[in-house]
Amino acid sequence: MSCPDGSCFEPQKRIRALIMLGLMMLVFIMLSAFSFVSQHKQVTPDQVSFDKHQATDGKRVFQAYNCMGCHTVVGNGAYFAPDLTKEYANAGPAWITAFLGAAATWPTEGAVKSMLLMPHIAADSGVKTIEEYYAKYPGAKERVERRGGKPTYMPNLLFNGDEIPQLVAFMKYTSAMDTEGWPPEVKVKDLDKRIALAQGGHSAPLRSGSKPAAADASTAGAATAGGDIAERGKTISASLGCVACHAPGTTKLVGPGWGKLHGAQVKLADGSTVTADDAYLIESILKPNEKIVEGFPPSVMPPYEAIVSPDDAKAIVEYIKTLN
Ligand code: HEC
Ligand code: HEC
Repeated sequence: MSCPDGSCFEPQKRIRALIMLGLMMLVFIMLSAFSFVSQHKQVTPDQVSFDKHQATDGKRVFQAYNCMGCHTVVGNGAYFAPDLTKEYANAGPAWITAFLGAAATWPTEGAVKSMLLMPHIAADSGVKTIEEYYAKYPGAKERVERRGGKPTYMPNLLFNGDEIPQLVAFMKYTSAMDTEGWPPEVKVKDLDKRIALAQGGHSAPLRSGSKPAAADASTAGAATAGGDIAERGKTISASLGCVACHAPGTTKLVGPGWGKLHGAQVKLADGSTVTADDAYLIESILKPNEKIVEGFPPSVMPPYEAIVSPDDAKAIVEYIKTLN
């Protein structure tokens, strides 16, 4: 198409171009207007709570302990530790509470069960039995079976009473956020085989839930029929996850060490002193908040009354005696 003298003016084409331009502007203006409409169905932190705690309180605790110095949430933070955005949806409140109480050890099934006995945790997770819990939070099952009772790379952070439920509230919020499918599901070819290879050639796929011996907490009540009482106490305390907080020696973990404890004088937070006899130890196990040891926060040790029978508590005390 040549226009040597510039006379080939084509009004129709021009009009078409102008109409298109007008349409584009209309689309642009409409889309701009949409971007001001507040996002539908997106949760905000003030809408999410756990027990009596707001997600916004949890965010403050999250910042105070600098969790983002190691973890990411929604992709922000440091890449030393796993992303926590969907942690609540994966592992649920009972597992997270058990974990944060003694983060240096992965929770056992017994530890998660103990948490489920706390009314506010059971109410929030909406289930009663550990089987239902696993069905609702499959990540908890995977974590208990593959790692339960083993050490972690996260330090014990020694939280005060309400900080753990506050953190749970915050993680509940990040889980409820609509992240438009982020983070994407990790799909690695032959992952099971690779993990097996890395762990020394066991060919059984790790994800299908092979049970490690140490983490089986169903032994809590009826452990080692023939073994003596102290041995039974040892098994119970391992399966319930007590050992995540109590060392067999005098080292302080989250709670006081059990070494040389029986018969010792224990200073309490109210300034008094008690002798750590059988009765005191049994009470400390079943109703830990009755007497708080000096220098330790209350409400960190779960009340085991509903899960540990008096007989089992006695067996644990017999085991503690052997640590003198
Ligand atoms: C010094 C680094 C560090 C800090 C600070 C830290 N974490 Fe961790 N955390 C880790 C590491 C490392 C892991 C993974 C442990 C492993 O795989 O052995 C972890 C694991 C976790 C997990 C379990 C993740 C999973 O795989 O299910 C949760 C939940 C968690 N941390 C929460 C927190 C919260 C909440 C805070 C702040 C109050 C926090 N962490 C602070 C290092 C840290
Ligand atoms: C999440 C951490 C945690 C877990 C799990 C835990 N404890 Fe404790 N425990 C503590 C803390 C913290 C204290 C000190 C505060 C107090 O007196 O309640 C304590 C105190 C005690 C005491 C009194 C110790 C003393 O020096 O007077 C005994 C006994 C005890 N726990 C036994 C147990 C047994 C048995 C289990 C398991 C069935 C268990 N604990 C599980 C944190 C824990």
